[in-house]
Amino acid sequence: MDTKLSITIFTSFLFLASYARAQTKDFHVTKYGARPNSDITEALTNAWKDACGSTIPSKVVVPKATYMLKQIDLKGPCKAPIKVQVDGKILAPKNPKHLNGVDQWVNFGYINFFTLSGGGTFDGQGEMAWKHNDCGKNKNCDRLSMNFGFAFLNNSIIKDITSKDSKNFHINVLGCNNLTFINMNINAPATSLNTDGIHIGRSIDVKIYNSNIGTGDDCISLGDGSKQIRVINVTCGPGHGISVGSLGKYPNEEKVEGLTVKNCTLKNTDNGVRIKTWPGTPIISSVSKMHFEDIIMVNVSNPILIDQQYCLWNQCTKQSPSKVKITDVSFKNIRGTSATQEAIVLDCSSSVPCESVELKDIDLTFNGAVTTAKFANAKPTIKGKVPKHLA
Ligand SMILES: *[C@@H]1O[C@H](CO)[C@@H](O)[C@H](O)[C@H]1NC(C)=O
Ligand SMILES: *[C@@H]1O[C@H](CO)[C@@H](O)[C@H](O)[C@H]1NC(C)=O
Ligand SMILES: *[C@@H]1O[C@H](CO)[C@@H](O)[C@H](O)[C@H]1NC(C)=O
Ligand SMILES: *[C@@H]1O[C@H](CO)[C@@H](O)[C@H](O)[C@H]1NC(C)=O
Ligand SMILES: *[C@@H]1O[C@H](CO)[C@@H](O)[C@H](O)[C@H]1NC(C)=O
Repeated sequence: MDTKLSITIFTSFLFLASYARAQTKDFHVTKYGARPNSDITEALTNAWKDACGSTIPSKVVVPKATYMLKQIDLKGPCKAPIKVQVDGKILAPKNPKHLNGVDQWVNFGYINFFTLSGGGTFDGQGEMAWKHNDCGKNKNCDRLSMNFGFAFLNNSIIKDITSKDSKNFHINVLGCNNLTFINMNINAPATSLNTDGIHIGRSIDVKIYNSNIGTGDDCISLGDGSKQIRVINVTCGPGHGISVGSLGKYPNEEKVEGLTVKNCTLKNTDNGVRIKTWPGTPIISSVSKMHFEDIIMVNVSNPILIDQQYCLWNQCTKQSPSKVKITDVSFKNIRGTSATQEAIVLDCSSSVPCESVELKDIDLTFNGAVTTAKFANAKPTIKGKVPKHLA
């Protein structure tokens, strides 16, 4: 072969190779039989299967329209990075029985380099389920499905998605490493039971940025094994606020380490930022490196709270104190209004008192007047202006 020709072949090969790398292959659910106002479970499952098997980056597209979807598990590992772009609105079955008590309605799992985006809405249509929820009284109550499960995802992004009216928690994050939520909208009425926004457990490096979360329960909650979590520029309310825990109820709980909550607003929530652990159990564990900074509270009932005597629905005995050790916690530059006079409560364990807690520049008022603080088994370092501690 002459040199000139082989150079031409070689350069066109290079061109094709880089072209393939930059390319994304689209998989439109409409090509798999999806039609507006009909069930797309099968179409989405099949589009996912093909996209996941693609050796070049792929994108599953759900165009603008309204669709119905039954329970679905979209799993990897996939051969290349994969995106799901949802521009439409996807509705869950209204009747919780039609989801057969599965933990999550829409599951994404075991994927590396996954992106869910598009500005679409996943509507859990939870109203009927909330009426049936009697789990406060009945231990054998019906299991209600959460809108989303994100499990064992690495290097993934969930953005511009609305999660509405979930029957249970909106989003459950489990076993993920480097997962970012950006520009999320999560909403359910203040009166809807257990509709937590994002619950994170056993995951490392999860970020929640620029989002709005208003539900009937916790805005964001951290379960055991949550590490290096960042919550920035998030608005919460209504609901129960940002919460670490509850912890110390079940055996084999992993420690919680590293949470930064910065530049957030909490509006009309029951709690602002809190850490809660159960008493009366022998579980030994720890919570450390929790930093809450630049936070605005608007009419929040318990703006700053450490509650180591947390006992929901009297499911515990308070005979033995919590054995979850809390260390290295700071609350800085927290301003606004409290809906109660006692704006700060640090109620730590008498068996393992809180250590290295700092309060700095906390300016919270109640009906225009000063607020107070209460400390038990905690001796916080106080800097700047902070509500007065009443012994
Ligand atoms: C995610 O990362 C973990 C830890 O590095 C690894 O064991 C797992 O296989 C990865 N999962 C995928 C789907 O790539
Ligand atoms: C985390 O995941 C994002 C999205 O895939 C990626 O761009 C980034 O490089 C990852 N970060 C690390 C530390 O691997
Ligand atoms: C904060 O989040 C809101 C959406 O809730 C967004 O409009 C705004 O641009 C974000 N600010 C920054 C600095 O990213
Ligand atoms: C923090 O929030 C304020 C008000 O929403 C915004 O102006 C500012 O840019 C945000 N900063 C960051 C770092 O998100
Ligand atoms: C403030 O919070 C209290 C208690 O949650 C509530 O009853 C009241 O309506 C709220 N006020 C405003 C102005 O939202």
